[in-house]
Amino acid sequence: MPSADLPAPATVEATVLRGKQLFNSAIGPVGAAANSQRPSGRMSDTGWGTCYSCHPNGLTDSVTWMFADGPRQAISMESTFPFGAAVIVNGAPALPESHMRALNWSAVRDEVPDFERNIRAVSGGGGLIPGIAEGAAGLANVPDLTPVANTGRSADLDSIATYLALGVRAPISPVSSHTVKKGRTLFAEAGCQNCHGGPNWTISALDFTPPPAASQIADAQLVKFLCRVGTFDPNLFADGVSNEIRANNAANVQARGILGFNPPSLVSVFASAPYLHSGAAATLDAVLENVTHRSVGRADGLDTLTDPHDRKELVRFLESIDRGTEPFLNVIIPPRACGPR
Ligand code: HEC
Ligand code: HEC
Repeated sequence: MPSADLPAPATVEATVLRGKQLFNSAIGPVGAAANSQRPSGRMSDTGWGTCYSCHPNGLTDSVTWMFADGPRQAISMESTFPFGAAVIVNGAPALPESHMRALNWSAVRDEVPDFERNIRAVSGGGGLIPGIAEGAAGLANVPDLTPVANTGRSADLDSIATYLALGVRAPISPVSSHTVKKGRTLFAEAGCQNCHGGPNWTISALDFTPPPAASQIADAQLVKFLCRVGTFDPNLFADGVSNEIRANNAANVQARGILGFNPPSLVSVFASAPYLHSGAAATLDAVLENVTHRSVGRADGLDTLTDPHDRKELVRFLESIDRGTEPFLNVIIPPRACGPR
């Protein structure tokens, strides 16, 4: 097997490796609770599951999970941080300097260390933050947004953030950029870049140091980052199609989404079907069948993509986007679809 020397201790490379080790491990450091002692550890309940199981190589398992906010497609993390832009301070990406996306489809989180909640609540592990109760009993001390930031509470947890910022590689598209000129023009004409533009192919980027001001939050979401593009189907059960319901909820409470969604990056989107927060679109063609979504980027609201042949050309362009594709840098944020209602 090929092998390499370990990075020197106390370097950023060593932090990335530690983060990757924890991310890929069902075990992690030993805890005090019965389910976090050797041979298991604090990363999951008796060592049953890892971050990697839903995010292979930091990417996505393509599964729609029923989570507390509703049906949620596992998010591929090659573009949670723009490539090479993270500023690492004390072993963690500094925010907002690292230009990280607001996190999750509903913009309910603002730091990777908030995913301590997944270790405890989803994987049933002890958790990495010391000094609070292990497992679900400590969850109240691990907030999503306010009142405190979770960065800086555990060097191990911070190292996972640094791994995601620096150590996840975007899949390389097999489609050559030379065959997609028409599709690229159609993308610009439709104003897709007004939400999927900028160096990271999304306008979603933190502009504050966590925690956020309470005024930025509505229904637990950072509302400023939410855009309404006609992809939320509120007719739970009535149309026999909608799966917009929260997990483990006997009362059938409607999922989050009525306020809009956090625009995903389009980097390597060819590799992450099915699409949208709920996995409702099996293909990129299906994403573009939605007239509201495909025309919302233009100030005049004109649908420039009525011709299915044009949509095929645009899909071909979408399939070609990877880290090597030149992004659209002239972004005008369309106020009518994004931000607080
Ligand atoms: C059971 C499957 C599952 C496991 C295990 C899991 N995730 Fe996720 N992850 C998801 C899903 C689903 C989403 C989207 C959730 C949403 O939008 O509400 C997500 C989203 C994320 C995001 C947001 C990325 C972005 O750009 O918005 C981060 C960061 C993340 N996960 C990190 C982790 C870490 C770290 C672990 C291990 C501690 C982990 N995940 C374990 C399924 C999982
Ligand atoms: C007003 C902002 C906005 C504009 C303009 C916009 N989108 Fe989107 N796009 C979004 C949001 C928000 C989502 C997520 C919706 C959801 O999950 O329900 C999304 C999702 C997508 C996805 C699915 C990605 C994934 O990982 O699941 C693709 C592909 C996409 N858009 C392509 C386009 C194209 C092509 C255009 C132009 C024709 C466009 N978008 C215009 C906001 C926008």
